[in-house]
Amino acid sequence: MNIMTGQKSADSNDASTILEFPNDDDVATNDSNCPSISELIQASINRRQALHGLAAFGLFSIGGTWVTGVMPAASATTRLSFKEVPHRHEMGVRVADGYNADVLIRWGDKVIPTAPDFNVDDQSAEAQAQQFGNNNDFLAFMPLPLGSRNSDRGLLCVNHEFTVPSLMFPNYRREMTASERLPLIETEMAAHGQSIIEIAKVRGKWQVMQESSYNRRITMLQTEIAISGPAAGHDRLRTSTDPSGRKVIGTLNNCAGGVTPWGTVLTAEENVQGYFVGDPLKTPETRNLKRFGFGRPWFDWGKHVDRFHIEKEPHEANRFGWVVEIDPYDVNSTPVKRTALGRFKHECATCAVNPDGTLTVYSGDDQYFEYIYKFVTKDRFDAGNREANRDLLDKGTLFVARFDADGSMTWLPLVFGQGPLREENDFHSQADVVIEARRAGQLMGATPMDRPEDVETNPNSGRVYVMLTGNKKRKEGNAANPRVANYHGHIIELVPPTSRGKADHAATRYGWSFFLMGGNPVDDQSGAKYHEGISDNGWLSTPDNCTFDNQGRIWISTDGQPKSGFSDSVYAAETSGPRRGLTRCFFNAPKQAEICGPVFTPDNKTLFLAIQHPGDDFRKPYTDRATRWPDFNEGLPPRSSIVVVTKNDGDVVGS
Ligand code: FEO
Ligand code: CA
Ligand code: CA
Ligand code: CA
Repeated sequence: MNIMTGQKSADSNDASTILEFPNDDDVATNDSNCPSISELIQASINRRQALHGLAAFGLFSIGGTWVTGVMPAASATTRLSFKEVPHRHEMGVRVADGYNADVLIRWGDKVIPTAPDFNVDDQSAEAQAQQFGNNNDFLAFMPLPLGSRNSDRGLLCVNHEFTVPSLMFPNYRREMTASERLPLIETEMAAHGQSIIEIAKVRGKWQVMQESSYNRRITMLQTEIAISGPAAGHDRLRTSTDPSGRKVIGTLNNCAGGVTPWGTVLTAEENVQGYFVGDPLKTPETRNLKRFGFGRPWFDWGKHVDRFHIEKEPHEANRFGWVVEIDPYDVNSTPVKRTALGRFKHECATCAVNPDGTLTVYSGDDQYFEYIYKFVTKDRFDAGNREANRDLLDKGTLFVARFDADGSMTWLPLVFGQGPLREENDFHSQADVVIEARRAGQLMGATPMDRPEDVETNPNSGRVYVMLTGNKKRKEGNAANPRVANYHGHIIELVPPTSRGKADHAATRYGWSFFLMGGNPVDDQSGAKYHEGISDNGWLSTPDNCTFDNQGRIWISTDGQPKSGFSDSVYAAETSGPRRGLTRCFFNAPKQAEICGPVFTPDNKTLFLAIQHPGDDFRKPYTDRATRWPDFNEGLPPRSSIVVVTKNDGDVVGS
């Protein structure tokens, strides 16, 4: 998330201050970004090489020469012919001419058939636990029936990332008694998690099927979640309410996610540290909690709920920061936190099946100077037996990425007993490695990145795209993050080698290159790089999420484009051929909203977008909103909502 502009610096706060609602993304907790002299020299060389590489290879090169047998880029695709929407501030949403953008569901709308109507002045945890949660993020479209590619009926799985009480409750005040504040906290907890809604096209229009037995809320308040994998049952996951260390109530800060090939959804727990109060120095988990960024609370929950106070319940913090697997097709299923995938600020969990039948899951760790990870399963995905894949994500190898200036990258295994991940560095089992994945990655020599957000695979080419949303604190570049004070972010393309004609996401050596460097290309100092035909409206800043259509064209959504200038947007570009990297602006969000979760139906005739935190300026009073989209009702605050984009003629989006 990046909902802040001009907030009090998180750096200046001590642990006793609730930042409400800071952007902790502005904090770096990786002290390994302080480079040595030799690293500085190398970084300078790398930066020159990388920038030279951009120019010399016209941006579209593989940065080095060692890569052989890589997937060929997909063949030339249909030209994106829509008329670009202008860079501007919007009160509502704007989509390219010839397209339609409808609101499907808003925060507070019914999910469970028994849910009461939304009443902003009379909210309760009980009501919210049956209603659509707040601040929608990741979207997965799961066709019905299971296993089909139906594009007219399916389950939409929606993450609810966070809440801001001052924007949520008309009666919220900073100083409230416990008895006043607790009901609001419980309502916030019920607004987190995920919504699963059945949706269908009825007479050409998408609708929520309000009576569907699939409809479900998973919340922070009341959903029991199992813990599996190497950290399950470990002492460091045991708490006073769960001496087993194998189950936890709730999932937190569900950002982006992924879909497994057996039809489950992965939801990524991201900024979980913001929910806990207390001082890491007064816990037995000091090093771990400081490295994750605990001690800078965004929420006051821990003042009133002991499990969110790290001095009272230090292990509770180790039960968040994981990837959670949910089976949306079984309303009674218990979600599972898969600890083998590591614990960090997971942005996403993107799956790819490998030529040998194993599965890779990619994830970024969204903070300044953090890393990119992947997990490769030990066993093979069984396409013919869904049940056989049930615990596939519990065994395998977690890797962290190192980028080199020759255009190669290496995936470094985070395996207890290998390299520095041993007793002398206070790792005593794989549980310690996954709980402190960041420290393990640092010891292995991972490359500190410029805030890795989404990592997605292009199904046509097998290449992998990493959204690096920016890093204004970078003082020295490295090969993959060459710009200091990187305000606008960039996109990197990873190129796995091929095996049996398919991209091998299990390989440990890839090539990599830049896809684009964000910013305004008219500004000579920006370092922005795109296709030379970029228009005044086509350049972008702060890429966050992306998806691909059936032609392998990328659709990028942004979070935090220049606030004084224009709304966040969706851009589309071809990824191969002569128009590669020619981003074009397709859709604008309302003021102060970011756009999350872009996803197509299998037929590409519908694009779903999650509009998160419209009109969210928390520095202003509840009543003073920059926009009241989508209701435009003075009695209602702006509401995060899902938007459905279709082409007026019913054809494929982008045709
Ligand atoms: Fe929740 Fe990194 O965005
Ligand atoms: Ca973001
Ligand atoms: Ca967000
Ligand atoms: Ca994001």
